[in-house]
Amino acid sequence: MRIGVLTGGGDAPGLNAAIRAIVKKSEKYGYEVIGICRGWAGLLNLDTMDLKYKDIKDIIRRGGTILKTSRTNPMKLEDGIKRTCENFKKLGLDALIAIGGDDTLSVAAALSEAGLNVVGIPKTIDYDVPGTEFTIGFDTAVNTSMRLIENLKDTAESHDRVFVVEIMGRHAGWIALYSGLAAGADLILIPEEPFSIKEVTEFVKKKIEREGKGPIIIVVAEGALIKDYKGPITKDATVDQFGHVRLGGIGEFLAKEISKATGAETRACAPAHAIRGGPPTVRDRFISTRLGLAAVDLVKERKYGYMVALKGTEIVHVPLSEVTRKTKTVDKKLYEEAKVFFE
Ligand code: F6P
Repeated sequence: MRIGVLTGGGDAPGLNAAIRAIVKKSEKYGYEVIGICRGWAGLLNLDTMDLKYKDIKDIIRRGGTILKTSRTNPMKLEDGIKRTCENFKKLGLDALIAIGGDDTLSVAAALSEAGLNVVGIPKTIDYDVPGTEFTIGFDTAVNTSMRLIENLKDTAESHDRVFVVEIMGRHAGWIALYSGLAAGADLILIPEEPFSIKEVTEFVKKKIEREGKGPIIIVVAEGALIKDYKGPITKDATVDQFGHVRLGGIGEFLAKEISKATGAETRACAPAHAIRGGPPTVRDRFISTRLGLAAVDLVKERKYGYMVALKGTEIVHVPLSEVTRKTKTVDKKLYEEAKVFFE
């Protein structure tokens, strides 16, 4: 048995733990593992590396992905799916384990439809893959975000300032909500609930009237939507092969509006990719390892077209076709619950 493994989309802490577990379990079964480099680009270009447990046994503590990654989408290239299938054969692969978020898994689902033996593992710091209570990287990203927000709180407190912290989260506000709540933010704005600038500036005004000067900490997800604005605030007009724009700028934008409307000294900070790196937390190492082991078991059972997922404390199997049907966004009820702190 010869298994290919790739990581696609944004990198995330815990990917190396999953790769390591895949290699370990495969070697136990006597299977060979080939690393496909730079996501789907590696299959299109036959860009591979050997993976032996003895060489990678220590990678569990490293963020990023030793396989490298990219946002290449074979479905957007002429003959992309056909070429991918041909190269799968050329490499002599019996199965492929694709580790990624909704984009990577949507390609995995298409390849599975086309007849390839594919297994998926959920990865994204954004946590927006449905069918699983764990995605690789989310736990590390929320912990890093929480610490960064707390750091900003110290300086905001010392200067009596308003701080707007822009946190990654394209379609879903999971990272902003978890880390903002954990760090004691005064207001959290997420893509699931569009807001008006007036609502935010009034919030700041009232809080200052009631409590004196700052500090006020506002956490905003990069993909948050302003009512009556067409779409999220973006860096530029370019889109990647999955049709995603480059988000960023809503924090700066809000900070300016707050300062203009309230006169309060306001600063913005966007940690951006800094929350996507660094050593993975225990949870990201532990569950990513379990998912990696389970993926190899799926291959052994020849149960293809599924994603391994966490449900409670159990690892379960979810059809890839179900996973890619929608995005897992923040539950309205959960956000309503948090609003008691936004007063
Ligand atoms: O992969 C998720 C994510 O971190 C999003 O939150 C963010 O919008 C995007 O990736 C950034 O992508 P890139 O690394 O291509 O700039």
